[in-house]
Amino acid sequence: MPGTTRAYFRRLFPWESDRYAAHLRTLTPQGRRWRFCGLLSDDALDDHAARALDTGHVEGCFLDGRLIGAFELFVDPHPPGHAQVALSVEPAHTGQGLGTEMIERARRRASLLGVPDIALMMQGDNAAMIAVARHAGASLVRAGPELGATLAVPPRDLRALPAALALDEASLVQSVTSAMLRAGRAAAARAMLAPAAMRRAGHEGGRATA
Ligand SMILES: CC(C)(COP(=O)(O)OP(=O)(O)OC[C@H]1O[C@@H](n2cnc3c(N)ncnc32)[C@H](O)[C@@H]1OP(=O)(O)O)[C@@H](O)C(=O)NCCC(=O)NCCS
Repeated sequence: MPGTTRAYFRRLFPWESDRYAAHLRTLTPQGRRWRFCGLLSDDALDDHAARALDTGHVEGCFLDGRLIGAFELFVDPHPPGHAQVALSVEPAHTGQGLGTEMIERARRRASLLGVPDIALMMQGDNAAMIAVARHAGASLVRAGPELGATLAVPPRDLRALPAALALDEASLVQSVTSAMLRAGRAAAARAMLAPAAMRRAGHEGGRATA
């Protein structure tokens, strides 16, 4: 995993969809195709990010405050317990174990949710994802140009629940603090630009009336 001392994981929340979409945009065109089984436009990525954060469990890996990887875990209500996971790692940080770590995290969360197994779909030429699925012990089955995989999930152990809730709470605090800091920085930048813009407007107004 990249710079284990500086990188950390936390849950992402619906108000962070711009951050999540910005991460998804860092994927190469091929990576985007692999991730979404087709090429999605930037607007479609924005919509996807917002929907994923509204409906699923999304966890991200941050390095120096930057979101460099994320996984989405969806548990379908129909049939109950059926789950899917999808991963993305910023190209500059692939091959460092992040994908493998995220599969383990998805598995732990799924276990707490009482999910028996997780389905994974990947393109047949996505060697990195195939390697990640194999590392996780998934059995791979060809389905046309795609490969399907099933990841076994350990039975629910409620002793892990308090620690997971505490981590979710910490994620919430970090997310809100980070959103406030970013909003504060944006407001400060606007305030610094405002006098210059007013001076420019006054100058141009003066020229127009001269
Ligand atoms: C798939 C993806 C999530 C993997 O993330 P990652 O952080 O690189 O994963 P890891 O570092 O844990 O493991 C990568 C494994 O793939 C292998 N790998 C990487 N690129 C490879 C390639 N081109 N050919 C063969 N193996 C490759 C690595 O060697 C490693 O295996 P190893 O541990 O045996 O050496 C990342 O490449 C990605 O975001 N791809 C684009 C989006 C995508 O395809 N998402 C999956 C759709 S569900």
